[in-house]
Amino acid sequence: MSKNRVQIFDTTLRDGEQVPGCKLNTEQKLVIAKRLDLLGVDVIEAGFPISSPGDFTSVEEISKLVKDATVCGLTRANKKDIEIAAQALKFAKKPRIHTGIGTSESHIKYKFNSTQDKIIERAFEATAYAKKFVEDVEFYAEDAGRTDNEYLARVLEQVIKAGATVLNIPDTTGYCLPDEYGAKIKYLKENVKGIDNVTISCHCHNDLGLATANAIAGIQNGARQIECTINGIGERAGNTALEEVVMIMKQHPYLNLDTGVNTKLLYDTSLLVQRSMGMAVQPNKAVIGENAFAHSSGIHQDGVIKNRETYEIMNPEDVGVTESSIVLTARSGRAALAYRAKNIGYDLTKIELDDLYPQFLKFADFHKEVNNNDIHHLMELNKIKKTSIKL
Ligand code: KIV
Ligand code: ZN
Repeated sequence: MSKNRVQIFDTTLRDGEQVPGCKLNTEQKLVIAKRLDLLGVDVIEAGFPISSPGDFTSVEEISKLVKDATVCGLTRANKKDIEIAAQALKFAKKPRIHTGIGTSESHIKYKFNSTQDKIIERAFEATAYAKKFVEDVEFYAEDAGRTDNEYLARVLEQVIKAGATVLNIPDTTGYCLPDEYGAKIKYLKENVKGIDNVTISCHCHNDLGLATANAIAGIQNGARQIECTINGIGERAGNTALEEVVMIMKQHPYLNLDTGVNTKLLYDTSLLVQRSMGMAVQPNKAVIGENAFAHSSGIHQDGVIKNRETYEIMNPEDVGVTESSIVLTARSGRAALAYRAKNIGYDLTKIELDDLYPQFLKFADFHKEVNNNDIHHLMELNKIKKTSIKL
């Protein structure tokens, strides 16, 4: 694989599904897994097999179904979890076990009542045990974002010795700043023996709205896998949004990074996840939100009608959205009214437009948004006939 290829590890069905109220049944998970495979993600984290019989079945069925992507199952650092995950993954063409343990001071003290050295032992043993079942073992150092870098480097050096193929550096609590997270990856790249033979993975949470920025900072400092979810769903404020990181890499060619994702399927995949989970994204959500390609102020509309690139840095078609939209409100100008009227068959003269515009503004002040039926109504009132129909 090229040095500039970033692996996309989708955890919609594991971290994403941990969201309260977003539970999916096996049927729904299979539909989403199939779509993720088609989308071109590299890894699908299908679930946490020991957590429930339902999750076990989902991971097992997804393993049978997925054709191209690696299928991954999460475990804690203990034998039983690993054995169950290996069993659930036995039909996968490319299975991966994702095991790990908390490494920050607070996790070691409060979660495990343990010591740094004992945690290293458990990390080594879990990785080596997982390696007995599958070749591809990813290790996560939970709360790595708040873990001392020197200690983290010691943990990682041991799990590489135990056979880890991927090292996940989660900012579990979404605490890091982008330069801090980037510097952590750089430190590990420079100080962990054997790290050049494994893939470093970014798993960032969005508690301070920095999940995407942190993942990109990690990639700029040498990581080559991003763990993310469709629509950015996940624990608390969520995970890095898949559609955001993929489009950042596509829209900034100088980064010289690429993914295997077919971006034209992003919008449709987002809708599938929103509907299956009953969790709508906010209209201003980057890339796939309802307003991501909608223009409503007169100045912007005038620019977009003249040339889309004046106010859009992405082509909506690249993410599967058919076209940009010009929303008619009381902030819209003559150009927008003429444009929308033309779209439904009225090629207005300058005089007609000058007559109509004040009526349109009054109507828009009252109704907030003016739709196609309202435009037809205005035309009827002013006895303006259709001239053409844009198909
Ligand atoms: O946020 C996190 O640390 C996780 C791990 C289990 C990978 O989700
Ligand atoms: Zn997480």
